[in-house]
Amino acid sequence: MKLLLSILVCFFTLSLSQPKEKNVDSRVEALLKQMTLDEKIGQMTQVDYDAIKNHVDDIAKYSIGSILWGGNSEPPSVTPQGWADVYDSFQKYSQNSRLKIPIIFGIDAVHGHNNVNGAVIFPHNVGLGATRNSALVAKVAEVTSLEIKGTGIQWDFAPCVAVARNERWGRTYESYGEDPELVKTLGAAYVKGMQGENLSDKTSTLACVKHFLGDGGTTNGKDQGNTECDEVTLRKIHMPGYVEAIKAGAKSIMVSYNSWNGVKMHGNKYLLTDVLKKELGFKGFLVSDWAAIDQLDKDYKTTIEKSINAGLDMIMIPNGPGQENNYIEFITLLKQLVKEKKVPISRIDDAVRRVLSVKYDMNISENLYADKNLTTQIGSAQHREVGREAVRQSLVLLKNDNNVLPLSKNLKKIYVAGNGADSVGMLCGGWTIDWQGNTSRAISGGTSILQAIKNTVSRETQIIYSADGSMADSTGVAVVVVGEEPYAEMFGDRSDLSLSKSDAELIDRLKSKGIQVVVILISGRPLLINASLEKSTAFVAAWLPGTEGQGIADVLFGDFNFVGKLPHTWPKTMEQIPINVGDANYAPLFPYGFGLTYKK
Ligand code: BGC
Ligand code: BGC
Repeated sequence: MKLLLSILVCFFTLSLSQPKEKNVDSRVEALLKQMTLDEKIGQMTQVDYDAIKNHVDDIAKYSIGSILWGGNSEPPSVTPQGWADVYDSFQKYSQNSRLKIPIIFGIDAVHGHNNVNGAVIFPHNVGLGATRNSALVAKVAEVTSLEIKGTGIQWDFAPCVAVARNERWGRTYESYGEDPELVKTLGAAYVKGMQGENLSDKTSTLACVKHFLGDGGTTNGKDQGNTECDEVTLRKIHMPGYVEAIKAGAKSIMVSYNSWNGVKMHGNKYLLTDVLKKELGFKGFLVSDWAAIDQLDKDYKTTIEKSINAGLDMIMIPNGPGQENNYIEFITLLKQLVKEKKVPISRIDDAVRRVLSVKYDMNISENLYADKNLTTQIGSAQHREVGREAVRQSLVLLKNDNNVLPLSKNLKKIYVAGNGADSVGMLCGGWTIDWQGNTSRAISGGTSILQAIKNTVSRETQIIYSADGSMADSTGVAVVVVGEEPYAEMFGDRSDLSLSKSDAELIDRLKSKGIQVVVILISGRPLLINASLEKSTAFVAAWLPGTEGQGIADVLFGDFNFVGKLPHTWPKTMEQIPINVGDANYAPLFPYGFGLTYKK
């Protein structure tokens, strides 16, 4: 038996280093033939770092195929090197398994490599939607990909091609906008930028298009809710992003928590297998969302049966030993299901083929460890420049009375106020360092708007900062930075999108001093701003711009013009929402595509 094993190992090692000309398919088939059921199931298992970090021997023991860094999982040190070190050590454990199949690591780098302190944080997708610039989005993805690879990680849970149709939804900012055309164009550009010319390139990262299907269309914008519409509408609004991403070469797709007409997507065989894999010809693999299969049934074994038979190829599991529905239970139960013929072995083989094909395409086994050359480029000046450009192009000018903008760099006095003025964390929003974002943890290398203004004006200009505007008198101009505090996913669901009372009062107070008030709104979506818009002299929608706040000053002081256009219809009232371009009764505050510019 031992001898047989070592012959097999020898044979496999040979097969891994077969000449490249041998196509991926035949290499995958050769490998598949050698795999036991346990090893196959291991490749379908994705475990969160936190669940396995104290059980690292399980990586080889169960031939775990993938590990993810969830929004709140992080290595002991969150610097680029800290991430790369943990990646390397985990990849090393995978090499203790019989077949030495490398792990593919996934992370939510949804606006830059956002969990890594020191990485460039780009505008969230809503801001990229405002740029209307697919070449720029591809560039953003390319830089993000390089920074991800600098930590060894090969897989990005992005782009999110949700078409956010109701701004109550807390994930509106993860969507490029309300129009399927815009979403599909920018989503495909992102996939191309992320995956590069070839998935095996050192700087290429596997994209994961999410969340299939209809996440942005739920009733009342409820996160993980129910999307109620007929199939024609579902396909017309929510599907184009996937069709285009597949054409662009996307090789992984994440399934959505939401239901369609009451049926949970994770159990929807028709959409996952018949439509996505067969009709659209998707050749990559489908990964489930975070513990999302658990919602299919009270009984874990039943959820596994339903989801794998529906077409899921890899299951994302946040729980480890001692917790319920953990990865060991998953492996044990799926094995039973195969033995009981409730999940056909052909389904397992299909899933494993899909996963292995991508691993071979990416040539992971020959680039096992993080490329230190890339690690040192994380957060470079060159990368920040791309972020700054993205910020400039994402700004939408909604009002500019008396041409108060652009501001002169030689003004005598500028008051800077608002809770967002001196907070890089607020500019970044959710999915930054922590899942829910952060205004207290330091974000290395970022530039706040206050700092950006200081960097821009002449030496003679006096900058007077107080968050509550208390120091303003009746001369000069005030720049007020207000808006939403960070949130992610369901924590951002709102039934009232009014600008907060304290923000509105701050604008009132400054206005009552008789000075010109320039409002910069930091938000993941349009907010109800009517009265404050009246009181402001100029009003800029800056979305969630990320670390490169200097891009805002570049445009405020006229070094660059405004080019951003609204990616969402701007509503007047809550009752109007959902309001989207093309609606029959369309009377918004500002229409989709609106955006002023400086006159030349
Ligand atoms: C989110 C996904 C994300 C995953 C992993 C889920 O809660 O819906 O967008 O990729 O967690 O962090
Ligand atoms: C994780 C996220 C995940 C979320 C799902 C959090 O604890 O860190 O990655 O998206 O749970 O609800």
